Amino acid sequence: MNWVKEQLDELKNAGRYVPIRVLESSQGAEVVIEGRKVLNMCSNNYLGLAGHPEIKKAAIDAINTYGIGAGAVRSIAGTMEIHVKLEEKVAQFKHMDAALVYQGGLLANLGTIPILIGKEDVVFSEELNHASIIDGMRLSSAKKYVFNHMSTEDLDKKLKEYRKEGKRSLVVTDGVFSMDGDIAKLKELSEMREKHDTMLYVDDAHGEGVLGKNGRGIIDHFNLQGKVDVEMGTFSKAMGSMGGFVSGSAELIDLLRQKARPFLFSSGLNPADAASVMKAIEILEKDDSLIRKLWKNTEILQSGLRDAGFRLTSTKTPITPVVTGDEKKTVEMSRILYQDEKIFASPIVFPTVAKGVARIRLMPSAVHSEEQMKITVEGFERAGKKLGILN
Ligand SMILES: Cc1ncc(COP(=O)(O)O)c(C=O)c1O
Repeated sequence: MNWVKEQLDELKNAGRYVPIRVLESSQGAEVVIEGRKVLNMCSNNYLGLAGHPEIKKAAIDAINTYGIGAGAVRSIAGTMEIHVKLEEKVAQFKHMDAALVYQGGLLANLGTIPILIGKEDVVFSEELNHASIIDGMRLSSAKKYVFNHMSTEDLDKKLKEYRKEGKRSLVVTDGVFSMDGDIAKLKELSEMREKHDTMLYVDDAHGEGVLGKNGRGIIDHFNLQGKVDVEMGTFSKAMGSMGGFVSGSAELIDLLRQKARPFLFSSGLNPADAASVMKAIEILEKDDSLIRKLWKNTEILQSGLRDAGFRLTSTKTPITPVVTGDEKKTVEMSRILYQDEKIFASPIVFPTVAKGVARIRLMPSAVHSEEQMKITVEGFERAGKKLGILN
């Protein structure tokens, strides 16, 4: 087992060993780490729903009614009425025919993609797709072609050339790119779907609760109902809880219930999580003030950082990546922010992003104050100067 230490040393020498900070409080604008209150600038709790009192109550009520665990895989004895109600709710919220709830977003991708395509088929994957999509494609054994980031032209060219290699074809993309914050050109991709007889699958993990009317996500944002075959998402980010889903035609969902491996071979989502998500959707349907607050904070943070001279990606969403480039410098920047500025902002390094474009990805939320956005910019300025990133 000596290789384990060798690999750890390799990571440390390359500056890619990321310390795992442990939270001693619930998620929120501030969190307690090592007994100190710090400003939390890197969780995905976009709307602050992870600590919302009505949602906590819904979870406790669900525990009282359904207990702690689902007790079995969904296909044997682990389907509870709360799962079915949630599936109906998600489908209605998303304006899709039907939905299937999984235990996480990663599992939704791993479970669904290999049902859509197999070894006789072909898949066209966006260059910056999330790791769970990549793993889902690997499990499918389909022949894979990667198209350039945001390039419908490259996709068109590759579909022309290679579509015929597969019986079925799937184009798969992140909706919002999680490390850059830009938004897929879903309208153009849906035109490719028509033109080249291919299915289209979008991972809306970072669009839920952020894009579209009342946070309905990317399909609603572009008004593309009926033009995308599968919308996948997670409940672990804006929804503040845990779990994932796919939505699509009723027949597809029916087939997934018979074949998707996380449905057949892993126990169902805990009832408290399902009830939390139901409540989160109800809150979003009623009122979009949290979403508006999220976007307002985003604007203050991003313009402040740009004005201070930091290089951000071409983000179009609250995802706010400050690109520092050098991996060691990025880890050091995160340490200074944490130690000196009491700002919790984890470094993102290879393999999560490519080498040379390491970054600190900031995530503003609806529960931050405008003042906290300004404090973050000022803290970044001081840390950036210490490290020579800013003059
Ligand atoms: C684009 C994307 N897809 C899928 C996932 C996985 O979601 P979950 O955390 O629910 O497993 C994430 C979360 O990291 C993500 O950013």
